[in-house]
Amino acid sequence: MNDFVARQSFYTDYVCGSLVKICVIGCGAIGTTIARAVDEMPDIDTTYLTDRSQECATRLQERTKKVKYIPDIVPVLPEIRLVVEAASQDAARYYAPLTLSAGVDILLMSVGVFQDEEFQSDAFRLAKRKSAKIFIPSGAIGGVDALSAASLDSMDEVTLTTTKPPSAFGPSAYLEAKGIVPADIRVRTEIFHGSAREAVKHFPQNINVAATISLAGIGFEKTMIRIVCDPQVKTNEHNLKAKGKFGELDVVTRNVPSPRNPKTSYLAALSAISAIKKIAGQTWVGI
Ligand SMILES: NC(=O)c1ccc[n+]([C@@H]2O[C@H](COP(=O)([O-])OP(=O)(O)OC[C@H]3O[C@@H](n4cnc5c(N)ncnc54)[C@H](O)[C@@H]3O)[C@@H](O)[C@H]2O)c1
Repeated sequence: MNDFVARQSFYTDYVCGSLVKICVIGCGAIGTTIARAVDEMPDIDTTYLTDRSQECATRLQERTKKVKYIPDIVPVLPEIRLVVEAASQDAARYYAPLTLSAGVDILLMSVGVFQDEEFQSDAFRLAKRKSAKIFIPSGAIGGVDALSAASLDSMDEVTLTTTKPPSAFGPSAYLEAKGIVPADIRVRTEIFHGSAREAVKHFPQNINVAATISLAGIGFEKTMIRIVCDPQVKTNEHNLKAKGKFGELDVVTRNVPSPRNPKTSYLAALSAISAIKKIAGQTWVGI
C-alpha cells in the first residue's frame, strides 16, 4: 500500500467508524492511564503495548481488555493507525523515525527530545515526506492553544516558572555539579534560570512542558524558564506568562502528581487521552 492509499484508508476508517488499532510505548504512569482509558473507547479495538520491561507490560495486559503485549512494534506497524510514545526521550528517538518511516502518525509525550535541533528537523521532514503526522499534546500545562495562536504575530516574551516539591526531582548531573540536593532544601529555592533549551537538557524528565511551549511559541532560545524547588508545595505548578501584540497571557496550572510517578502530573496522562479521543473522533474543540 503506498503512503497516499494508507492515509486515505486511515481517514476512511475513522469517518466510517471502523475500529482502529493503536500502539502504546511505555507502561508507566502515563502509558498505564492511557491503556485503561482506551479500554473504554469504542472506536479503538486493540491497544498493542510494548515496554522494555516485559513484566510490566504483561501485568497491564492481564488487567485490561484490549491490551496485547508485543516485544517489537515492527511486525504490527502496517495495521496500526497511531503510535503513542509514553516512555522516554530514548524511546522517542528510536520509535519516532521507525513509525514515521512507515507512514504512521505518532503522538509524543517525551517532548523534550525536540530540543535536539537535528532530531527535530529530521523528524519534521520525515513526517512531511511520508504524509504522517506528529501530535504533541499540551501535556501538563494549560494555555498552549492560546500561546500557539498568539505567536502568529509578534511576541515580546514567553516565560515559564515551574515549582515542584523535592520528590519531583530525580538524579541530575546539573544539580550535582551545583551542589544542590533537592531532598535537603527546606525553603523555596530557585534551582535553575535560563533558556528552555538548557532547561530541557538539564531536567529531561521534569520539564517537557518547556519544550511544548517552545514549539508552540517562540522557540527554545527565546523562551525563558525558572525552576523552583519548594518543600511546602504538594502540586507541580506551572506559571506560563506571555506578552505580545495579542495582549497578555498569565496561566497557572497546579497539577496533582501521578500516584505512580511523582515526576509526572496526572494532567499529562489526561491530555494524551484527550488527544487520542480527538484524533479518533470527529470533533476537535480547542484546536
Ligand atoms: N508532555 C508532558 O507534559 C509530559 C508530562 C509528564 C511526563 N512526560 C514524559 O512522558 C514520558 C512517560 O512518563 P511516565 O511518567 O509515564 O514515565 P514512567 O517512568 O512512569 O514510565 C515509563 C515507562 O516507559 C518504559 N520505557 C522507557 N524507555 C523505554 C524504551 N526505550 N523502550 C521501551 N520502553 C521504555 C519504562 O520501562 C517505563 O515502564 C517521560 O518521558 C516523561 O518525561 C511528559
